[in-house]
Amino acid sequence: MTRAAVIAGVGGHVPARVVTNDELAQRLDTSDAWIRSRTGIAQRHVVEPGVTTSDLAAEAGRRALKNAGHDTADLVIVATTSPDRPCPATAPTVAAKLGLGEVPAYDIAAVCSGFLYALQAGAAAVLAGHAERVLVIGAEAFSTLLSPTDRTTAVIFGDGAGALLLRAGTADEPGAVHHVHLASDGTMADLITVRGGGAEERSSGLPVREEDRYFRMEGKSVFFAAVRRMAQSSLTALSRTGWDTAQVDRLVGHQANTRILHAVAEQLGLPAERAVINIDQVGNTSAASIPLALAHGMATGELRTDDRVLLTAFGGGATWGAATVTWPDLPPS
Ligand code: COA
Repeated sequence: MTRAAVIAGVGGHVPARVVTNDELAQRLDTSDAWIRSRTGIAQRHVVEPGVTTSDLAAEAGRRALKNAGHDTADLVIVATTSPDRPCPATAPTVAAKLGLGEVPAYDIAAVCSGFLYALQAGAAAVLAGHAERVLVIGAEAFSTLLSPTDRTTAVIFGDGAGALLLRAGTADEPGAVHHVHLASDGTMADLITVRGGGAEERSSGLPVREEDRYFRMEGKSVFFAAVRRMAQSSLTALSRTGWDTAQVDRLVGHQANTRILHAVAEQLGLPAERAVINIDQVGNTSAASIPLALAHGMATGELRTDDRVLLTAFGGGATWGAATVTWPDLPPS
């Protein structure tokens, strides 16, 4: 049988503090009704001062290991847009917090598509025999990137982390990762960006502009590009896996906006009910979004053993992708 990376454990973690739409409406020109109707978001979780992405990632990783019944991994990949520091990467800190010893650990920066990029890298490492067990984590303290006065981003994003443990197995097992399709278009870099803090700003010799410290997004352009690219990528991943769209039991898309998820389902010809949705509870958690939605779908019973699951995301870069997996047989995490 064809070898494949197989999902052996799932874990999700969000910080305890909840920020409701009404709380945001007290300090921004927005309303619960606008946020719910335009995005589907009712609340998001936000880190307390001093808590960082590596804290969230380590907890999600710990839960994925526990779910798998293991206490070690020999490779850690962290997808994040909000690393603890610009240098070094966050993944070695996560590996240290998990007590994994001197394992290889690195970050992937592909914004909201980051988890799919990390999934492909983790699956490839398993298939190449470079690692027995890989922790693939998406983690964000995204609130730390947001301008407190920008209502167009402050209402959308939230903090959290999700993780999968991958092991070597075969393509006929529940949990198999079948195909991951990835793409990018750097001409769209300005649509989703934190302009400052990198070489571009430092080499410009110009003083730092306050607004460049924060995340910015051209929401409308992103909306249409996201729907188109996620649908296209999904069709590519499905055809390379040999699945018809009608065979997809669950669509777990990047939780950017409920309207985007429903539009992608519609373009694929899937009933809206097949989409797993937790954006109402957690907002857009960028790289953490897909694994948090997977942990949610497992907890609610929406994801069942052997379900054919389609994952898809679009994010800064621009980057996008889609993946096909069959759902594993795991205890509740
Ligand atoms: N509260 C109230 N009004 C708001 C608002 C807020 N938080 N944010 C924007 N508005 C206003 C705008 O100023 C605009 O007002 P105007 O008509 O007077 O100019 C109006 O609401 C509509 O704004 P628009 O940006 O056209 O709204 P939209 O329907 O496109 O929704 C997003 C905005 C961000 C929710 C939506 O574009 C989106 O989800 N984009 C994609 C995000 C995404 O996919 N991200 C993935 C990668 S990170």
